Amino acid sequence: MRTTNQSDSPRVSFSPDPQRPLQLLQACPFHAPSPLAEIKDPSGRIVLIKDETTRMGLGSFKALGGVYAVAVMIGEAMSKLGKNAITVQELLAPDTRTFASSMTFVCASAGNHGLAVAAGAQIFGAKARIHLSNKVPPEFISRLQAKHAETVISGNTYEESLKAALQDAENTGAILLADGAWPGYTHPPSLVMEGYTVIAEELRRAFIVNKSWPSDIYLQAGVGSLAGAITHMIRTTWPVQPRIHIVEPQAAPCLQKSYAAGHPVRAEGPVSNMGRLDCKEPSIIAYEILARSGVEFITISDHEASNAADHLTINGLPTTPSGAAGYAAMIKQQATSGISADFRPLIIVTETNI
Ligand SMILES: Cc1ncc(COP(=O)(O)O)c(C=O)c1O
Repeated sequence: MRTTNQSDSPRVSFSPDPQRPLQLLQACPFHAPSPLAEIKDPSGRIVLIKDETTRMGLGSFKALGGVYAVAVMIGEAMSKLGKNAITVQELLAPDTRTFASSMTFVCASAGNHGLAVAAGAQIFGAKARIHLSNKVPPEFISRLQAKHAETVISGNTYEESLKAALQDAENTGAILLADGAWPGYTHPPSLVMEGYTVIAEELRRAFIVNKSWPSDIYLQAGVGSLAGAITHMIRTTWPVQPRIHIVEPQAAPCLQKSYAAGHPVRAEGPVSNMGRLDCKEPSIIAYEILARSGVEFITISDHEASNAADHLTINGLPTTPSGAAGYAAMIKQQATSGISADFRPLIIVTETNI
């Protein structure tokens, strides 16, 4: 496990305001704060659970990012044509939908981000084309098609489908809406991350009321956009600071390796059963936030993740190894390093198991 220091300054700017996505998402179907529950872990300890399994009817927290980013990018495209900045109501108006119908959003996805982009495109009248590796479960393909997205099987890995999405955008003029960031490509992923800040804001509001702040939060990471967005919000807006643990599969510890190297690097490894976290290259925005935010890194095995998913499922939270990764890390840490007397862990169950 490694801890980052809190003094280095960032190079990529990220200045989110959760009020922007909160205001916009209120206009979307099924938007409501996700539940904050308590369960007992295998040792009988109370664990706080932020349950993202039903978020906006899409089954994962990713709904917050993709839907919001699509809406903002449609608004930005209209502004470029000389139209004034548009309101939420105008965004849903028939004229805007007609305008948006000429826009195609393209992305690569391990499933959930594609679903969010497809949902956003459907709500606001645009089109979506999603590149998926041949490892993505077929259920995701059916769910994407039900949202009227075009799906393309591109390669054996997430990285290969990302390359295909980039090529697609270049060849066709479609708008690339990736959830990860790299040098020269930061605006769309920063919008996706701004959408995710809603989770930290909902938690802050709940803890202000019930005053039961967590001592530790476990954030699972693929490219790190979720972990980066939540860490940023915790460090800048929460009055009571938890320890923050960044959880990655042993097969893809790209953020931990990047921190050790002092700059973003690739992590090599086998395929993980945590498909949504099996990203070998970090988002540079996420990397820079985490590198200066005093977080700890922990990796978990596929076996630990599937045990944790089983335990959550038995406790009424049906999820996958990716969705249970934070919980797995918390259990592992209790067993290997012991815990402090004030230990009050918070886990985000990031997706349902269908
Ligand atoms: C269910 C689930 N959990 C966690 C993550 C990790 O998010 P990020 O790639 O932003 O680190 C993802 C990403 O797709 C996901 O789908």
